[in-house]
Amino acid sequence: MRHVERVGVVGCGQMGAGIAEVCARAGLDVVAVESNRAAADAGRARLEASLGRAERKGKIESAADVLERIRITEDLDSLADRTLVIEAIVENEAVKAELFGKLDKIVTAPDAVLASNTSSIPIMKLGTATQRPAQVLGIHFFNPVPVLPLVELVPSLLTGDETTGRARKFAEETLGKHAILCQDRAGFVVNALLIPFILAAVRMLESGFATKEAIDEGLVRGAAHPQGPLALADLIGLDTTKAVAESLYEEFKEPLYAPPPLLARMVDAGLLGRKTGRGFYTY
Ligand code: NAI
Repeated sequence: MRHVERVGVVGCGQMGAGIAEVCARAGLDVVAVESNRAAADAGRARLEASLGRAERKGKIESAADVLERIRITEDLDSLADRTLVIEAIVENEAVKAELFGKLDKIVTAPDAVLASNTSSIPIMKLGTATQRPAQVLGIHFFNPVPVLPLVELVPSLLTGDETTGRARKFAEETLGKHAILCQDRAGFVVNALLIPFILAAVRMLESGFATKEAIDEGLVRGAAHPQGPLALADLIGLDTTKAVAESLYEEFKEPLYAPPPLLARMVDAGLLGRKTGRGFYTY
């Protein structure tokens, strides 16, 4: 089984930058692709800040050495020689499927693995956007990527065992993560449980049943959660939370997955959480 050596990451936002960071910290050569100059600059700044923190905490020897292994570009063709590409762009099925169609034409290694970090979009839809669905699977990381040890591996019905095996080796042996295998159902394991919980907290706030502080403190002090559900939604991003809820609702048609109006209005307003400086809380 061939090892992954050269990794491509598409999207260098919250998740893409974290994925590029853990790959480079594991010694891999990384090319990260963004959609425009400003986004590429923001991606670089995100990486520099995170690696700077890791260096100050003594988790890595040199942020500069790790950064040297990451090239950030706007040119998708730079991914041609990659043995694994991980997509981490906006949570939108049509946009992701179009990208997978392009990656299929660009990435030349016949056994290259094309992976998505999607939280909720069926991997089958991305696999069938390519001519090589046996080499497409979900590798779903958790935020913040350098800190949280879990990775969900999501083969579709058409994913080959060889692909899943290589992805597991990459996640566990190369990156030192813990992998769990999930079926190709919206939300996989973690978000299928977590998103309805967050939505219930938003409904509780919306109905006036409790304040945001009471809701979050309740779960932190009463159930030993490291942060409350509303603070967690701010960390995930309210746009991503809503997009994942919509995919879950689309898949299962259960009211518990329907995004409440308050969440939708906050996304309309651009109050997306930590990444825009304001969500349920101000940062
Ligand atoms: P984000 O909004 O921080 O980053 C997305 C990035 O993709 C942006 O920098 C944007 O410029 C870039 N982008 C958009 N279209 C592109 C294209 N066609 N080519 C290249 N770059 C493009 O979003 P975030 O939070 O990083 O989420 C990305 C993916 O990761 C989504 O699929 C999301 O569901 C998934 N995810 C998110 C988690 C979270 O906690 N935020 C956790 C696990 C997965």
